[in-house]
Amino acid sequence: MPRKLFVTTALPYANGPFHIGHIMEYIQADTWVRLQRMLGHEVHFVCADDAHGAPIMIAAEKAGQTPQQFVAGVAAGRKPYLEGFHIAFDNWHSTDAPENHELARAIYTALRKNELIEVRVVEQFFDPAKGMFLPDRFIKGGCPKCGAQDQYGDNCEVCGAVYAPTDLKDPYSALSGAKPVLRSSEHFFFKLSDPRCVEFLEAWTQDGRLQPEVANKVREWFARDEDGRVGLGDWDISRDAPYFGIEIPDAPGKYFYVWLDAPVGYLASLKNWLGKLGLDYEAYMADPELEQIHFIGKDIVTFHTLFWPSMLKFSGRKTPDRVYVHGHLTVSGEKMSKSRGTGISPLRYLELGFDAEWLRYYIAAKLNGRVEDLDFNPDDFVARVNSDLIGKYINIASRAAGFLSKRFGGRLSADLGVEGRALLDALRAHGGIVREAYEEREFGKALREVMLLADRVNEYVDRHKPWELAKQTGMDAALQDVCSVCIEAFRLLTLYLKPVLPALAAKVEAFLNIPALQWADAQRALGHHAIGEYKHLMQRVDAKGLQALFDAPAPTAAPAPALPGGEAIAEEIGINDFAKVDLRIARIVAAERVEGSTKLLRLTLDAGEAQTRQVFSGIASAYAPEQLAGKLTVLVANLAPRKMKFGISQGMVLAASHADEGAEPGVYVLEPWPGARPGMRVR
Ligand code: 2FM
Ligand code: ZN
Repeated sequence: MPRKLFVTTALPYANGPFHIGHIMEYIQADTWVRLQRMLGHEVHFVCADDAHGAPIMIAAEKAGQTPQQFVAGVAAGRKPYLEGFHIAFDNWHSTDAPENHELARAIYTALRKNELIEVRVVEQFFDPAKGMFLPDRFIKGGCPKCGAQDQYGDNCEVCGAVYAPTDLKDPYSALSGAKPVLRSSEHFFFKLSDPRCVEFLEAWTQDGRLQPEVANKVREWFARDEDGRVGLGDWDISRDAPYFGIEIPDAPGKYFYVWLDAPVGYLASLKNWLGKLGLDYEAYMADPELEQIHFIGKDIVTFHTLFWPSMLKFSGRKTPDRVYVHGHLTVSGEKMSKSRGTGISPLRYLELGFDAEWLRYYIAAKLNGRVEDLDFNPDDFVARVNSDLIGKYINIASRAAGFLSKRFGGRLSADLGVEGRALLDALRAHGGIVREAYEEREFGKALREVMLLADRVNEYVDRHKPWELAKQTGMDAALQDVCSVCIEAFRLLTLYLKPVLPALAAKVEAFLNIPALQWADAQRALGHHAIGEYKHLMQRVDAKGLQALFDAPAPTAAPAPALPGGEAIAEEIGINDFAKVDLRIARIVAAERVEGSTKLLRLTLDAGEAQTRQVFSGIASAYAPEQLAGKLTVLVANLAPRKMKFGISQGMVLAASHADEGAEPGVYVLEPWPGARPGMRVR
């Protein structure tokens, strides 16, 4: 029985182009969807722009556009990314489309009928200059804990404290600079704390439909306090005008908070798509066989496992069958950041002429069914593509196809020999394992399995040496058999890789002269078939070219050999340039190893300020923590705080090293002469 699948990815905010994290999620979902289609299942795979909310309204104003114009501009830029990375959504819609207005209002009205909506008065910061209530992100001020200036209204980037905007010291509006005033206003709440919701969610989230780690995390919301109350609070779903969103029925000047109508956009996009196909949305959704599946990132789990299912359930609708959560993408072990040059621009990747399917392969090779972060590591990327994809897989075809076309008119032999048949049987027998791994989103496992099969084929080639058979007389039949086995094996491997590499598979189908591969074709054989001319299928990655991918490419000029320390002296600066760098003497109060990093030490520094600072320093290979504690050193004190995977680094410690660590290894932390004290400036 073919499955009926409705699949979505998270709807991206329409406030800018896609980043590599979006592309990763789309590649994950697209690969899964392609597998389902190859299996003959029916899939509708949709997405949309998440158009509403204050940040988009404000960005539009800054750009001198209406929010509608602004969002349309962003939407117009989506296509090159989706086509470029072979992401085959059936439909791309918008949460500002009429279907979404209508569905969101209908859902809300049903919740209200069900007595799950309540009006309450809320006190909030209001910007008197702008005439609007300020979202937390747009209120800034001093951190109530560490005093750091210019911190956001919800948490401090310097010390990590979490607080309410009303706790900020000297708050100001990030929009106008005005001092915000407290004002009260009526807000609409979705009563998630209602016993009906709690009971429903407790069962729904724990019935096995979620990944175990997600179910465990979500369970914390249902822990009871001494009075038997759960932690799940009611959800504020309204915002006051001016707001870019959907007006709430019977409440002029009140709009749905963007997160209320965003997931409704999944349904709106589906409805719009079914309309284009001439299908009835209500009938489609009413089918008990229908499976509704959302792919999302770990940061938006609560919206999808608490709010969204409750909205659907208590408005009398179908709830999601699966919410597949993935981790975040890091680049060389760090959170992506444009300013540090660690972000990979997906469009730049394509513009530089890199093959989209290299990235699809690499990402798939690193994905599994758990909520783990995934690291893009350039060296690893080059190695996996060149040695696995090209070295193990593509080479099978290039080794065999030439002999077949030159000597046998492209004709395969139907016999293949005992050993060849055994090899192909083994390849076919593994199809189930590969399919199941894909089904469970264990893409890394699926690809490892395929590469093990490719290893077997290469061993077969090495044993039978077609290049030697070709030189011997009377070995024509053997040569044709061996090459035919290779081509049949290559067809099977291509089939197994097709969910990840659809464009490459299409090229192979053309070369082999066969119709589009479906999963069931694994059980067939080409037999006495004629293949086409072999054309080059895929390039190797040029490791050097990869550098250009990063926003701030590393310096390319080789240092002149005679220079001190092997490194050219940097460009000349004036004394004023130097004065911009605030160097201070600091005492290393504590030094600790950082779990999960072999390079970094976590230093606690006293630079004569009211608070100590935390600095991460890449000196773990050179110093044991005990060697450092108590010592004085030099700190770059006015370096912008930097968010790292392990926490925030509030400055940098000075150390000397040779430009080429290979030529002369070692890192030497600077230490002042005796007499210097923490807080003294170095000038
Ligand atoms: O986090 C985000 O980027 C949101 N725009 C995701 C919305 S997903 C769905 F609910 F629309
Ligand atoms: Zn702070």
